Amino acid sequence: MNYTQFKHVVVLTGAGISAESGIPTFRGQDGLWTQKEMEYLARPETFRKDPEKVHAFYNQRRLDLKQSKPNRAHNHIAYMQDELAGSPTRMTLVTQNVDDLHEKAGTKDVIHLHGELNSALCIKCQSRMICDHDLTDQSVCKNCQSQGALRPDIVWFGEIPYHLDEVQKALLQCDMFVSIGTSGSVFPAADFVNTAKQNGAFTVELNLTPSENAKVFDHTNYGLASQIVPNWIDTFIHGP
Ligand code: APR
Repeated sequence: MNYTQFKHVVVLTGAGISAESGIPTFRGQDGLWTQKEMEYLARPETFRKDPEKVHAFYNQRRLDLKQSKPNRAHNHIAYMQDELAGSPTRMTLVTQNVDDLHEKAGTKDVIHLHGELNSALCIKCQSRMICDHDLTDQSVCKNCQSQGALRPDIVWFGEIPYHLDEVQKALLQCDMFVSIGTSGSVFPAADFVNTAKQNGAFTVELNLTPSENAKVFDHTNYGLASQIVPNWIDTFIHGP
């Protein structure tokens, strides 16, 4: 299975690719917050009721992110993008992660389905701005100068993920779909493999453990992302 046989590869990543960089996954044992706490805090109604508690949660995650470095899996995805850039094979990277580790590894045009920790959204004027510091309910929007209208630019439960049209288009065009480090338990990302498969794509799952839709994939490999992702990419680029 070599990249020259494919015209468009879509790669989807989830929290598992960042686990070895010290960023807790959502449904693993290593989480800093319990699943219940994370799901409570990642809701618009919680932000309306208790903005300071939600700001404190995301401020802590933004701070932790400053200490995190990309691991071999992120770095190899950036290498894969570089290698394919000069070829007729297109590559689209979609991530459910809100960290910036793909960017830190050098990957360009990362599609963040669920938003980004290092971005703030103004509820008043809808403008987005880089945010690499703490947000509070006193923070001022650089665009409309409103105070207290900035929220984390994160897609919360019950909100619509970003860039869905662009992702849908890529899934309908792709002939290779690779899912890395995701449990396949949150929609619409959990359904991307089915959309790709319906259009004849070859589908691959690289994960620590079988995801909820593991059976759908044509090829699966399980282990630590920092090991199995570089191995798979090297075979895909250079052949077995
Ligand atoms: N290497 C590879 N895979 C790993 C590793 C690792 N070192 N560590 C954990 N995993 C796998 C787990 O086996 C699990 O299947 O990563 C997956 C992480 O699953 P989740 O914690 O559910 O994270 P994710 O799938 O990204 O969650 C999707 O849910 O809470 C929402 O918005 C949040 O984007 C998130 C979405």
